[in-house]
Amino acid sequence: MTKPNDAANTIKIRSYVAADFEDMVLTINGAAEAYRGVIPADCWHDPYMPAEDLRSEMADGVEFSVSLIQNRVVGLMGVQRRQNVDLIRHAYVSPASQGLGVGSALLDHLCDGAVRPILVGTWRAAEWAIRFYSRHGFASVDNDDISALLRTYWNVPERQIATSVVLARPALSRAEAGRLLSEVGAVPKPSEPSPGL
Ligand SMILES: CC(C)(COP(=O)(O)OP(=O)(O)OC[C@H]1O[C@@H](n2cnc3c(N)ncnc32)[C@H](O)[C@@H]1OP(=O)(O)O)[C@@H](O)C(=O)NCCC(=O)NCCS
Repeated sequence: MTKPNDAANTIKIRSYVAADFEDMVLTINGAAEAYRGVIPADCWHDPYMPAEDLRSEMADGVEFSVSLIQNRVVGLMGVQRRQNVDLIRHAYVSPASQGLGVGSALLDHLCDGAVRPILVGTWRAAEWAIRFYSRHGFASVDNDDISALLRTYWNVPERQIATSVVLARPALSRAEAGRLLSEVGAVPKPSEPSPGL
């Protein structure tokens, strides 16, 4: 296996520029193959993220960084500032470049210097992604806080809410989740059952 610290595999990270767009779409849809047959069938789309969806996420304030190896885009990850938290959004590394530290480098880049809680949502079935974030200091929020957090800070369908988890860095206690939600006027409903979770 090629060593990730070989000069040829040096990972460069920078903000996205318009010329990256097509490579980003290809990277997302290549990496998203990992979800095929893993996430609920009714949540899978082919392509997983069409170009217009990526454009609308950018228009909605997701700020992307890309990672390059030998000047080719091999990964991307976004941050979205939402009220009193920062969300990590759309983390994808090309299958051929996974396991080389590209995702870790992107995550470190986006999280460095963060002063607000950082949240990330992912499919409950994407165990590798949950492990990836856990290894980088994220902790799963309580099951009973998932729906309220996703409804408040994300704009995702109910079906996705029912089949997702949320992780936070630093770890978010139930009391802290409740405080964040009440700061933005979302009333947490701790006793509400979380469908499908
Ligand atoms: C999740 C994802 C973004 C991680 O990116 P990545 O570049 O593969 O991540 P890294 O290489 O930094 O780390 C991943 C694994 O490789 C290992 N690794 C890290 N650096 C490494 C290195 N230099 N050499 C070998 N392995 C390494 C890590 O230990 C980690 O292991 P784990 O799976 O047991 O946690 C990527 O796998 C991906 O795109 N997956 C499909 C889409 C997805 O699930 N996205 C997340 C949506 S929220």
